[in-house]
Amino acid sequence: MTAAQPDLVIRGGTIVTAADRFRADLAVSGGRITQIAEHVAGGAEEIDATGLLLLPGGIDAHVHLAQEQGDGTVMADGFGSGTRSAVAGGNTTVLPFALQRRGQSLREAVAAYHALAEGQCWCDLSFHMIITDPTPQVLGQELPALVREGYTSFKVFMTYDDMVLNDAQLLEVFDVARREGALVMVHAEGHDAIKHMTRKLEEAGQTAPYFHAEAHSRIAEREATHRAISHAELVDVPVVIVHVSGRDPMEQIQWAKRRGLNVFAETCPQYIALTRDDLKGLNMDFEGAKYVCSPPPRDHDSQEAIWQGLRDGTFDLFSSDHCPFFFEEAGGRGKDNPRARTAFKWVPNGIPGVETRLPILFSEGVSKGRITLERFVALTATNPARLYGMYPQKGALVIGADADITLWDPQRRCTLRQEHLHHGADYTPYEGMEITGWPVRTILRGQTVFSEAGGVAERPEGTYLARGKSPRRL
Ligand code: URP
Ligand code: ZN
Ligand code: ZN
Ligand code: ZN
Repeated sequence: MTAAQPDLVIRGGTIVTAADRFRADLAVSGGRITQIAEHVAGGAEEIDATGLLLLPGGIDAHVHLAQEQGDGTVMADGFGSGTRSAVAGGNTTVLPFALQRRGQSLREAVAAYHALAEGQCWCDLSFHMIITDPTPQVLGQELPALVREGYTSFKVFMTYDDMVLNDAQLLEVFDVARREGALVMVHAEGHDAIKHMTRKLEEAGQTAPYFHAEAHSRIAEREATHRAISHAELVDVPVVIVHVSGRDPMEQIQWAKRRGLNVFAETCPQYIALTRDDLKGLNMDFEGAKYVCSPPPRDHDSQEAIWQGLRDGTFDLFSSDHCPFFFEEAGGRGKDNPRARTAFKWVPNGIPGVETRLPILFSEGVSKGRITLERFVALTATNPARLYGMYPQKGALVIGADADITLWDPQRRCTLRQEHLHHGADYTPYEGMEITGWPVRTILRGQTVFSEAGGVAERPEGTYLARGKSPRRL
């Protein structure tokens, strides 16, 4: 008996999973992986991957696209440019947010983001919700119904005037998550501590972007991380502490994990590749606004702590927190934003990074011997798939999984330059960074959606994924 000819065979590469690596050929039919063997018969299309790594397509579980700002600024990426940038950076799935504005129904928010994304996406996607207005209607009806429809995770904020939930509200949201088996992502920074520091800095005339890093102190992040963990323990709900910036909040997470709580943690490229000194700009000038994000990057000691945490399992996820704003162009944070120039508190928070996430972690982590290849795959693809209810359809190179594959050249050297990137932002915070290791081809369900030679595919073929429930443990 002869099996049908595969649609695609990728030959001669090294397959990497979260657990091991081995030389094998891989066959794809109907968009799924059908064979992994030392040698497989010829396919309708053949790719020679000699010298390359075959990685599960990157899953960026924390990106902001087309998110409404409410202050007149606009995001530099919608779903089109944001997902083009994602695939050029080796990703096959992104999880952006559907933001509920206060006074808006959750159902309406989700529908609005679907409308923006429909037919625009170069990779697969699914939405987390952001809950800013936990009314009885939202908690009692909308949230439970949406979780059952596959929106199985949502983010809550412990700061920002237009999004912050108080402790009573956090506990109520956590309760619904526990009942419905959903996962809560927490932005853990203490609102009152930030406001207090901001006011004191302003009174002292310290309004340059650099002082954002002082206002958003490590103490405020540590305190909120502890509070979120305590509330989650009280309610017995799993939580993810997202965008953890350094040693202080990590110690709280390690304490929780040691005690067996279902607490997960995410960190991001800005916390290994930037420090607070970047916010100084050229001479405490407005250049520093290019690096304003929350929590802000910290110092070298925190970078070292983060590398240790990436190795030892303190961190489960490495996401970009891609949140792009223009620096020069109208509607952004910079030249055209007079209010932002008067004080750091008006600078929109967030930096671009969906395209540079994998190269930065590979180069700084794998190429420099700080983490293994297997750990790289776990942090960037397998764990996000498992934690957010997409495994093993996504995040694994196994028979039957979606053929989402990134061909990676571990030797490729380049310098990060804005002009090479596909995002909508008009700068990269990583300009000039030297990188070893780059994605040379991104394959989504068996179709090449990006290649070095051909660029990004002509048409967007990404689809929406309803997700399953999260495990309480990874
Ligand atoms: O500064 C950041 N991280 N902006 C994006 C929104 C968020 O809090 O993740
Ligand atoms: Zn072979
Ligand atoms: Zn956040
Ligand atoms: Zn974010």
